[in-house]
Amino acid sequence: MIEYDSVTKIFGAGKTAVTATDSVTFTIEAGETAVFLGPSGCGKTTLLRMTNRLESVTRGSIRVQGRDIMEMNVQQLRLGMGYVIQQIGLFPNKTIAGNIAVVPRMLKWDKRRIDERIDELLRIVKLDPEIYRNRYPVELSGGQQQRVGVARALAADPDILLMDEPFGAIDPINRHQIQDEFLKLQAQLKKTIAFVSHDIHEAIKMADKIAIFKDGKLVQFDTPEIILMRPASKFVSDFVGADRALKVLGLLKVRDAMNREPRNVIQGEFTAEEALRFMEDNNFRHLIVLRENRVLGFVTRRQLKYEQGRVEELVEKFPEELTAREPLRDALSAMLMHDLMSFPVLDDSGGFSGTISYRYIQKSILELYSESQDD
Ligand SMILES: Nc1ncnc2c1ncn2[C@@H]1O[C@H](COP(=O)(O)OP(=O)(O)OP(=O)(O)O)[C@@H](O)[C@H]1O
Ligand SMILES: [Mg+2]
Repeated sequence: MIEYDSVTKIFGAGKTAVTATDSVTFTIEAGETAVFLGPSGCGKTTLLRMTNRLESVTRGSIRVQGRDIMEMNVQQLRLGMGYVIQQIGLFPNKTIAGNIAVVPRMLKWDKRRIDERIDELLRIVKLDPEIYRNRYPVELSGGQQQRVGVARALAADPDILLMDEPFGAIDPINRHQIQDEFLKLQAQLKKTIAFVSHDIHEAIKMADKIAIFKDGKLVQFDTPEIILMRPASKFVSDFVGADRALKVLGLLKVRDAMNREPRNVIQGEFTAEEALRFMEDNNFRHLIVLRENRVLGFVTRRQLKYEQGRVEELVEKFPEELTAREPLRDALSAMLMHDLMSFPVLDDSGGFSGTISYRYIQKSILELYSESQDD
């Protein structure tokens, strides 16, 4: 856990003084990722550098795992935090392996353990150890160096990571990949992470909470969903963009919006005539047809008219399967592509667990939005 308590940083004095952070108070809970977001010069790097005492705090205090950082040994404090700096900052005279080994060596790990750890980390950041282990930083691209920076920060398995635009130098395609890999890793490791970014997409993807700064002040600290749907000010809503409802669709999952007790469902053994009457009585446009909780497909009134037989013989298959884990954006995309108003949602074992529809998607977005109007 990292607690910032009225943290103010003033560089210089008198007329030329710059307030880099201004009475900033918030807490990063253990195991969570907080993304520091805001325009250039708003104080993100300064706040990160104060956290491991690379910069002093002018007023206020910072506590790490419950202890005031000023009462801790600087060396101990820094060994407990992996730090990925904004300009990569590998040691040019050390090989890639040598760079990653810095902290483990300080901690006096034995050579074999260090070598194994180096290879493990290089694989995690998708650099082949055979190729890169013994190279020097100048022999790597900026994006590759940045991956080494991430590996180095993870080397001694610190509880806390400070990451300053760690993927900024990597091209968009590889950046998405490394973000995904990092999210998978974090799901296992559960580090406490302070992550600086100026990219709203990256922030939404990586953050448990987003801290938005303007001119050194914290203007909002909330989950990505709330930042998007209930921006605290015009500055925040401008920063997150006019398409914030669409961004929320990428963030919410089908399970957040699905109808778990849909009524337009029928078992396959009913007759076409019974199904048609059921639809007409309830004014349903289509029915989802099940057998033993498996989705066989759907039927419309047109398909049933003048038919005898059982509904399961008349079904049309759904063109795609959706699970509760999928982003709402993908569900909406499937509806638009296939011109269907709703889709069945399957659980992990492929069983029917509900439906997702335009109406339910809109309802979930409006709920997020309207709670702000009630406050
Ligand atoms: N060592 C320093 N001496 C004087 N002013 C500084 C120093 N370091 C940072 N500043 C100033 O403090 C403010 C915040 O800088 P900081 O580097 O924290 O911004 P940032 O949010 O990380 O920006 P960016 O997105 O460009 O990296 C800026 O106005 C900057 O000029
Ligand atoms: Mg910075």
